[in-house]
Amino acid sequence: DTHDPTSLRTPIVAVLGHVDHGKTSLLDKIRGSAVIEGEAGAITQHIGATAVPLDVISTIAGELVDPDDFDLPGLLFIDTPGHHSFTTLRSRGGALADIAILVVDVNDGFQPQTIEALDILKRSETPFIVAANKIDTVPGWNPNEDTPINDTYDAQSDRAASRLDESLYEIIGELSDEGFSADLYWRVQNFQRNVGVVPVSAMTGEGVPDLLAVMMGLSQRYMKAEMEIDVAGPGVGTVLEVKEEKGFGTTIDTVLYDGTIRSDDTVVVGGTNEPIVTDVRALLQPRPLAEIRTESRFEKVEAVKAASGIKIAAPELEHAMAGAPVRVVRDRDIEDVIEEVQAELADIAVDTDEQGVVVKADTLGSLEAMADALGEAEIPIVSAEVGDVAPRDVSVASTAEDPKQQAILGFNVDVLADAKTRAEQDDVKLFTDEVIYQLVEEYDEHVEELER
Ligand code: GTP
Ligand code: MG
Repeated sequence: DTHDPTSLRTPIVAVLGHVDHGKTSLLDKIRGSAVIEGEAGAITQHIGATAVPLDVISTIAGELVDPDDFDLPGLLFIDTPGHHSFTTLRSRGGALADIAILVVDVNDGFQPQTIEALDILKRSETPFIVAANKIDTVPGWNPNEDTPINDTYDAQSDRAASRLDESLYEIIGELSDEGFSADLYWRVQNFQRNVGVVPVSAMTGEGVPDLLAVMMGLSQRYMKAEMEIDVAGPGVGTVLEVKEEKGFGTTIDTVLYDGTIRSDDTVVVGGTNEPIVTDVRALLQPRPLAEIRTESRFEKVEAVKAASGIKIAAPELEHAMAGAPVRVVRDRDIEDVIEEVQAELADIAVDTDEQGVVVKADTLGSLEAMADALGEAEIPIVSAEVGDVAPRDVSVASTAEDPKQQAILGFNVDVLADAKTRAEQDDVKLFTDEVIYQLVEEYDEHVEELER
């Protein structure tokens, strides 16, 4: 067979940012523009993701994107709800997302989750741009639906334009405080060295052509080589979420970043105790035009190729872990694939100490991020696991010799009721938060109190 099976896959774009800064609205706007352009059918809704093909990007972006300049097939956007930890977005060797859009509300500026997102982008060395969103709310703004930013700038009063400039420079300053050299995107020459800031409005669509053009250009220029995959090969992906689904039992929402998965494949999935080997029962996609957040009605598909978001229904997924790898076995030895999954899990596993605090997190990726942050703060960890805080965790924490270490730090997890009462009885301190550095700060303050 002389046929070359490699092909360029769609880059995966994570949309990150603080709660309510407009991540979902931005994706809604891109979808909405496609509907207006008569391209509704061309945009496909995936599980947890939206696929926008190149020709649609070029229609929305107008003269900013000439499809002849590109050979990547489009962009796959992953929305990350503010309450949810986007640190799930990991894959073998680092970040699941190839590129990211950090959405910042121009009025609100940097907020805790903005800083958290930046931290993670920094650690995973993910290239990103900043979408300075809600420019339509600048006092005196004269909206120009769906136009490139340059055109709408020209239509503003000096007063409105300089108000926007002030907010934009504030964002550039905040990026610089976090160690990123940034500038307005049209002044950036090298997007690997400098962060481009794109003013947009998810409400009016102003700047959305620019945003798409910059994302497309960035992927084509810097990521093309990494997009070469064997599309027909056995699929590889990451579990985004483990979910109960009526009629299907426990399912895993997965982002496939390599190869193909078929509805008759056997897969190996990272689980809390050991890798799970199971046969796919169904591959599910949202029905066309279904709303991204409802996801209630699915359509069975025979096969999907990377990059895509897919819900996998299969027996025995109860102990699957968010952030864990999924690998299709296909014609290979099951034992080899189990080993690959184990190696990947070992790679993510947190090194623990003889003595230290107990750490719980919602996903493997966030556990890893927690461990990094605690390491930097020189806080030792005695155990680190994915899952809600359970009585067993309290028992472990209560045995610490150092009172400072009789503590559990939970990131994006719940505390089970009996764990809470146990903790009170055993004098174990519980800290939970949805922002990692705040969690570390709370713990540090507690330690300071004890040492006073
Ligand atoms: P979470 O998923 O909760 O983290 O929020 P999000 O970042 O997805 O924000 P979302 O898109 O839900 O928007 C939050 C609110 O801001 C909504 O009321 C939107 O209508 C509003 N909003 C978003 N973008 C814009 C914009 O460009 N202009 C204006 N005026 N309002 C916006
Ligand atoms: Mg949202």
